[in-house]
Amino acid sequence: MTGITGKTKIIGVWGHPVGHSRSPAMHNAALRELGLDWVYVAFDVAPDQVPQAMAGIRALGIVGVNVTVPLKELVAPYTILSAAALQTGSVNTLHNQEGRLHGDSTDGRGFLRSLEDAGQSGAGRSVLILGAGGSARAVAFALAALGSHCRVANRTRARAEELVSDINRVYPGQAETSGWGERTYAVDLLVNTTSVGMYPHIDEMPALPPDIFAARPFVYDLIYAPSRTKLLRLAEQAGCEVSNGITMLVHQGALSLALWTGLPVKEIPVKVMEEAARASLRE
Ligand code: ATR
Repeated sequence: MTGITGKTKIIGVWGHPVGHSRSPAMHNAALRELGLDWVYVAFDVAPDQVPQAMAGIRALGIVGVNVTVPLKELVAPYTILSAAALQTGSVNTLHNQEGRLHGDSTDGRGFLRSLEDAGQSGAGRSVLILGAGGSARAVAFALAALGSHCRVANRTRARAEELVSDINRVYPGQAETSGWGERTYAVDLLVNTTSVGMYPHIDEMPALPPDIFAARPFVYDLIYAPSRTKLLRLAEQAGCEVSNGITMLVHQGALSLALWTGLPVKEIPVKVMEEAARASLRE
């Protein structure tokens, strides 16, 4: 994109607050690389303004938007849901197709691609997932779909039980609840989906089962600011391989961009997006 023209197409992100979002930097870098006359902007949408924003996306001919905290569940009832969005009950990508609003979730697929980047498979793993919110749902369903077994531990146990029963309804026997901070079976993949340890609370970490690192699980933290949470630092000290969530951010965004542009995912410049996301984190 060399400048805004009369034909510039608009995509963006809705959140509340949204000013900290890395997505504009990441997507605009991709749009420039692709040579598209498109622009990606951030919209601060308060939860009580979702119906008006839904009308706005149609009225203004906005091609699509990413949806982030706290709106992912709120927008779902207004859209035609994809299978992934239906399973997780949350939408991170809205696509306006001639006034018909499609709601998709690219978080789970983005997570799996990010695992692959780290040389890890999402298939046939024994996993402990910390958290039971929207991100945990996306991660758990994506892993269960590949035959992995998911234990879910959450501060609020009832929420973990609800997620586990939703997974078992679709993938029988592949999920069970685990106590928050309580001993569990050895796992080969540990995923933190909670916000515990996120900047500025960098000295906090989620409650862990004792001896969780003994079997050297791969440890994945969805948090990317700081780039090494306390959880990841401890895991590394214990000899585990680790990854933060920056590449998940990149891949979920790349999958959204593929939906809006109609381009095959392999043509989306993920390396350019990753570099832009990393640069925006250094600012
Ligand atoms: P997201 O879409 O990022 O998953 P969410 O749906 O609000 O956001 O979920 C946040 C997750 O982080 C939940 O699992 C939440 O636990 P509760 O269900 O008990 O609220 C977890 N979480 C947030 N702050 C936490 C804290 N201080 N200690 C433990 N868990 C926390």
